[in-house]
Amino acid sequence: MKATVKLDIDRRAGPIDRRLFGGFLEHLGRAVYGGVYDPGNPLSDDRGFRTDVAGALRALDMPCVRYPGGNFVSNYDWRDGVGPRESRPSRPDFAWKTIEPNTFGVDEFAAWCRVVGTEPMMAVNLGTLGPREAADLVEYCNLPGGTHWADARRANGGADPHGVKLWCLGNEMDGPWQAGHCPAPEYALKARQAARLMRGLDPSIELVLCGSSGRGMATYLEWDRVVLEHCWDEVEYISAHRYSGNREDDTAWFLAEGVEIDRILDDYAGLLAYVRGVKKSDRRVFVAFDEWNVWYKNHETDGRWTEGPSLLEEVYNLEDALVCAQYLNSFLRHADIVRIACLAQIVNVIAPVLTSPDGILIQSIYHPLRMFSRHAKGVSLAPIVDGPTYTAGSRGEVPVLDVSASHDEETGAVSLFLVNRGTSHDLDVEIDFGGRAAGTAVEVEVLSGDDPKAHNSWQAPEVVAPARGSAVRGEDGKLRVTAPALGLTVVRAGLDRPARAGLQAIGAAHEQATGNS
Ligand code: AHR
Repeated sequence: MKATVKLDIDRRAGPIDRRLFGGFLEHLGRAVYGGVYDPGNPLSDDRGFRTDVAGALRALDMPCVRYPGGNFVSNYDWRDGVGPRESRPSRPDFAWKTIEPNTFGVDEFAAWCRVVGTEPMMAVNLGTLGPREAADLVEYCNLPGGTHWADARRANGGADPHGVKLWCLGNEMDGPWQAGHCPAPEYALKARQAARLMRGLDPSIELVLCGSSGRGMATYLEWDRVVLEHCWDEVEYISAHRYSGNREDDTAWFLAEGVEIDRILDDYAGLLAYVRGVKKSDRRVFVAFDEWNVWYKNHETDGRWTEGPSLLEEVYNLEDALVCAQYLNSFLRHADIVRIACLAQIVNVIAPVLTSPDGILIQSIYHPLRMFSRHAKGVSLAPIVDGPTYTAGSRGEVPVLDVSASHDEETGAVSLFLVNRGTSHDLDVEIDFGGRAAGTAVEVEVLSGDDPKAHNSWQAPEVVAPARGSAVRGEDGKLRVTAPALGLTVVRAGLDRPARAGLQAIGAAHEQATGNS
């Protein structure tokens, strides 16, 4: 089967914000305790941070990590997690029925972010606390000193402010499961008051308003319209969340998930344009897709009032990784409206990295994030794709090939991200650079396999791992690559003048590469 992808470096979808490759760390299960923070473990540093976990996350080059929740934040008092550890209280956590020891709090998180080379993205509790406590947290984190909470941070060892730029105004406040859930106008009022207080203390911060927690919500988009109309001038972003699942065990249907993600982003594009029009505003508000992932297999959400229980420890397979790749493709295609996206989550809880006391396991979904984060730089292009379709169950006819592309103006490199949703046929893909020619330095990396359910385990940790692929460059300057069935193929090429020579093989054929290459 054949497909063509035409690119024109002047035909752009939007600038690529690095924060599209962010993550999310919640006080949930073993994400913090036994995940990023494991004092006393020989693999931890003197602050208790697991060095193997930090190393794996550093390799993802995540620009931001959202914290501390999630549902957890809506009944969390950040003041419990600062100051001398011996005076910090243990509290019952309403969301996940666990005991929160509060030995890891905002100061530890800020220090951990520095270790991982990422920026903190802080959520405030607008469920059971309010604007005042949210502003106090901004003061604690961002003000230099000379006031109560800034001086408290200094007394706790933080001479320099944490400098938290991104702030979420609560979490999933549209959801009846959320502590402090309320109707949209009430949330909007609280969010607006909080925004004014918080920005009053630090005008440089950026704020994320709670949008719908999913497309399945009865109030989907209507909640978003109401809160945006109230808060349009106060915020930079509205959040979107989605968790995908293959509950009917229908791989063909599941692998068309990108269609749904595109639809959600198209919905938000329409809504944001509508509210902007109604407001006659010159401002723009963007989407922060600050929770996304596959999550449907593990619904162990009851911590039975213990500390750091195993919750939501989803095992990820190849088809899950290909769905994650489609999220990232969709974010790139909608780069004009999506500026932030956070894989939910990063360690142990629905996560690319699992820990045991003795080491870490890299799950399949780690790889697409690393491949995109490494190569999707500069501007997102708008590729024209021509290829076969397949029947994806109730989703109807869907293109086999899901594509996004980027052009890094600094290096001149073009990258393509090709997901072959088919389960049995490889695709011969011809890439036409629109009057330009591919240079000789071409890199191809492939994540694929025969079994959509293949997954890594402690016994077999590299069943799903990327391999090096190859491309052929024609005298017309076009590239030809094989995008294997059930596969993500990433192609990176410099652009050149059209070559004169005939067909030229580039790259080693499917040489096994390491996960961190
Ligand atoms: O990521 C797990 C949970 O999913 C988060 O706490 C919540 O925001 C969402 O419903």
